Amino acid sequence: MGQRRKIGVIGGGQIGGVIVQLAVERELGDVVLFDVVEGLPQGKTLDIWAASPLLRSDCCAIGTSDYKDLAGCDVAIITAGVPRKPGMSRDDLLKVNVEIMKTVAGNLKRYCPGAFVIVVSNPLDVMVYACQKLSGLAARMVCGMAGVLDSARFRAFVADAVGVSVEDVTALVLGGHGDTMVPLTRYCTVNGVPVGELLPAETIAAIVERTKNAGAEVVNLLKTGSAFVSPAVSALEMAQAYLQDKRRLCVCAAQCNGEYGAQGYYIGVPVIIGSGGIERIVELKLNAAEQAAFANSCRHVREMIDAVQW
Ligand code: APR
Repeated sequence: MGQRRKIGVIGGGQIGGVIVQLAVERELGDVVLFDVVEGLPQGKTLDIWAASPLLRSDCCAIGTSDYKDLAGCDVAIITAGVPRKPGMSRDDLLKVNVEIMKTVAGNLKRYCPGAFVIVVSNPLDVMVYACQKLSGLAARMVCGMAGVLDSARFRAFVADAVGVSVEDVTALVLGGHGDTMVPLTRYCTVNGVPVGELLPAETIAAIVERTKNAGAEVVNLLKTGSAFVSPAVSALEMAQAYLQDKRRLCVCAAQCNGEYGAQGYYIGVPVIIGSGGIERIVELKLNAAEQAAFANSCRHVREMIDAVQW
């Protein structure tokens, strides 16, 4: 590998595989895919590497089961863990995935302490808290992917209902990644036009509900796993913002220190991502209903953190 940026992907399952494919396709950097399952990361990366001439990409991907190959990564994206099965909530994954995170966090600290870390594993808000706490890496360099995905789902549904391009719809979905997420319909616009002027209130309410359940909708249809393309694209959007210092304003799980009333834990808030990592949390003035919904989301995240023996 040469002077290109280096992206580590920890967990070579469904989401991890798509992340590697897209990172190579977009030439974001050389990719190292880590997994504990023997042969899996090597097989997936060989397959993607073989496509690189046709993808016109000079970035390469290698697979490994040895953490030391992550040395020097600029970005580390963590998808290791078990996904949901029908009937399971994201929270049901808590215990087993925190155990996995212990090992992952220790190795991040050891081999790539300068990386911008994006956690994808669920239950997201607790997993990213665990990653930062157990690795001791700077909070601005550790974040969680949820808001970009939840906002994208919301945007897709709104674009469809209005009958416009998805490109023109902006939306912010804050809070925890679960049933308590907080879609801010007030801030949803179609190229600046508030969505309330284009859709009846009942339609917007239905879109809010569908957004909250969009992950479960996929789980129920697939039966053998959870969404994997949209989470992968969302995580890469964040990686790209960091690698290219784009200073994107997007929602991600960031460690709050009083912002939005959250103290010392991670939850979905609007942030700016640039070469400094999470450079800033953008505080919006929420109305009473939004504040109540956000506080409820915070309570839920705190309860889950308290349920873990740290
Ligand atoms: N270290 C590294 N990888 C691990 C470990 C570990 N200790 N334990 C499991 N894995 C790997 C598995 O071998 C598997 O390849 O994590 C991968 C997870 O992939 P999938 O089961 O396909 O799950 P995926 O759909 O990619 O979702 C991953 O993201 O959205 C969340 O809820 C989802 O927590 C889940 C995670």
